[in-house]
Amino acid sequence: MDFDALGNTCVVGLQWGDEGKGKIVDLLTEHFDVVARFAGGANAGHTVQIGDAKFALHLLPSGILRPDIVNIIGPGVAVDLEILSEEIEGLRARQIEVGRNLLVSLRAHLVMPYHKKQDRLSEARRDGGTKIGTTAKGIGPCYADKMLRSTAFRVADLSRPDDFRSRMKKVVSDRNTVFAALYGDDEPLDAEAICRRWLDLADGLATHVTDTTATLQEAIAGGKRILFEGAQGCMLDIHHGTFPYVTSSVCTTGAVSAGAGVPPSAVHSCVGVVKAYTTRVGEGPFPSELDDATGEWIRERGHEYGTTTGRPRRCGWFDAFAVNYAIELNGITELVVMHLDTLSGLPEVKICTNYSFIGRNVSVFPPTDVQLRAVEPCYETLPGWEGNLSEVTSYEQLPAAARAYLDRVEELLGVPITLVSVGPDRSATLHRGGRRNAGSIGMS
Ligand code: GDP
Ligand code: IMO
Ligand code: MG
Repeated sequence: MDFDALGNTCVVGLQWGDEGKGKIVDLLTEHFDVVARFAGGANAGHTVQIGDAKFALHLLPSGILRPDIVNIIGPGVAVDLEILSEEIEGLRARQIEVGRNLLVSLRAHLVMPYHKKQDRLSEARRDGGTKIGTTAKGIGPCYADKMLRSTAFRVADLSRPDDFRSRMKKVVSDRNTVFAALYGDDEPLDAEAICRRWLDLADGLATHVTDTTATLQEAIAGGKRILFEGAQGCMLDIHHGTFPYVTSSVCTTGAVSAGAGVPPSAVHSCVGVVKAYTTRVGEGPFPSELDDATGEWIRERGHEYGTTTGRPRRCGWFDAFAVNYAIELNGITELVVMHLDTLSGLPEVKICTNYSFIGRNVSVFPPTDVQLRAVEPCYETLPGWEGNLSEVTSYEQLPAAARAYLDRVEELLGVPITLVSVGPDRSATLHRGGRRNAGSIGMS
């Protein structure tokens, strides 16, 4: 990857989330001045591992471990102030400074306790086939209120406590009525307690709150380099993902401009992150899923358990057909392949190259969940490889079969793979065609 040529860059997941975006954003930050989250909320779980230290970040951008980087939580993010405060405290307890290097948009919408409650109650009420399998972080209900407008609260609203209180009382009272009537809930939320808690949280976070849109405009004018950190993945996108088994935000590169508050022309490169196989948490169709011992083997070897909820991730073969769809949608300029080490030890590996429906290849990615459930994956089989790849220090040292696998993936996708990850650590990253990622070992 030619870091100097990237310009302002967004990093997005091209599968169903958890591709390893956190690791790549952390790794790239040394070449940037600002890292900005533009979508999603605490449903995200981005892991950064530096030696023995492991950080699970939910709302904090993955540049937060480097003190000289400005980290922005943009207007498009659904912010849960309790989780944000806990994350900040958690880092401080580990001697990581969180001060003016964190800025939170006053335009960002607030996730409130009734959003989380609604998320839980409505999921519990759905039967098997209609459950989405959400993270229960209140994301859908928060974005729904944002669209409704009159019942929404933004970070800025906390600076006017009287108005906040009076509107919150009405909203909480209405929610209590709905929860009781619809779900038989008999534990009404206490509006006054919520107001006190949120106004307290706002006090604690006041130094971070600002107009981040203006900050980004200044950064662009000053020639600063900006890295936009995607959350979730293309197949979870509200418009283009496997609806309705998706999240409630736009996860594709199209959201960068709207969610961060920069013109589309300010984004120069779009880096797509994929795993060398596929995972998915929650419900919904997954054509290349391995509901067998191999899927189980990948889950255990790759430690495929959710960073946010701890749920086992569903595992399957790499789906080049789905990733091709994601590459087109996102305008991906280069690819990073994660978890190559995890596949080590399999006698053979498969790549899903297409889907078939009643014996015929489909020509476009199926637009409905009904159609996606009806297709069969078409596989190409390649020889597997052995060995502990996380010990490998250059791309050339990878087993020939592992390189052949990447060559074939790249050929099928038509976009260069410029970084390959062979372990969770910052340092276990190989430049394709050359050297180990020098300069990114250890914390700055
Ligand atoms: P994100 O949501 O896209 O940031 O990804 P997650 O952090 O939820 O999940 C990725 C998981 O894989 C984390 O536990 C990472 O530490 C781990 N990881 C990242 N890259 C690699 C890799 O190349 N190999 C292995 N074995 N683990 C990796
Ligand atoms: P990162 O950023 C993986 C999934 C949930 C569920 C669906 C809707 O770590 O890649 P939601 O709580 O958003 O309403 O849940 O989306 N989901 C994720 N899966 N990684 C994530 O984020 C996810 N965020 C949401 O499992 O299927
Ligand atoms: Mg994750």
